[in-house]
Amino acid sequence: MEVVIVQDAGAGGELVAQGIADLLRRKPDALLGVATGSTPLPVYEALAERVRAGTADVSRARIAQLDEYVGLPAGHPESYRSVVLREVVEPLGLSPESFIGPDGSAEDVRAACAAYEAALAAAGGVDLQLLGIGTDGHIGFNEPCSSLASRTRIKTLTERTRADNSRFFDGDIEQVPQHVITQGIGTILEAGHLVLLATGEGKAEAVAATVEGPLAAVCPASALQLHPHATVVVDEAAASKLK
Ligand code: F6R
Repeated sequence: MEVVIVQDAGAGGELVAQGIADLLRRKPDALLGVATGSTPLPVYEALAERVRAGTADVSRARIAQLDEYVGLPAGHPESYRSVVLREVVEPLGLSPESFIGPDGSAEDVRAACAAYEAALAAAGGVDLQLLGIGTDGHIGFNEPCSSLASRTRIKTLTERTRADNSRFFDGDIEQVPQHVITQGIGTILEAGHLVLLATGEGKAEAVAATVEGPLAAVCPASALQLHPHATVVVDEAAASKLK
């Protein structure tokens, strides 16, 4: 695992966007696994800026979602499908057809999970997976004590994660769905390159557990220790608890 400490969130966004642009130069139709939430937004903005400036070509890139809420009506602005369309697909000028994700409104959620695993495999697997990290060490929505070998499946969010995410739902935890579909940790570990971005002091403990703690299901992100090509990009605040 390599750890890169940058000054702030903007610098992290620039660094990761450049890494994505470099990958797309080597493999123009790379499958990019994208996270949602606040942390990756500077990456998507920096990448879109490169596209506008003509220094990155994303025209053949493909996008894969990491996770999705269960039970939000189709088109709900906070469904992760809507978020990825709004924050990644549209600003990069990609077509919705270039984008795959789990169906969180499916009646048969287990079948939707299996279908998404199959879709990822059919797409040739994720080349670069961008990850955020929860304050409790989750990646995707693999909450603490998720199996390190887990596959895409339905999970129940912890109260802490629902509280963290209530800011996207008018500050009302009751509106945050209880269930999600998430790529499993085993699924995530199959990506060619894992890039975890963490910014802000609130992530410092989770980052320390990920990088310096034991490999343990209680900190799902520590599974990155198992991956042959994992990069952790942290700003100074998120790095503040590293030894
Ligand atoms: C979102 C996801 C989550 C977030 C994490 C951090 O697709 O998979 O693991 O990355 O909850 O969220 P932010 O970046 O909002 O702090």
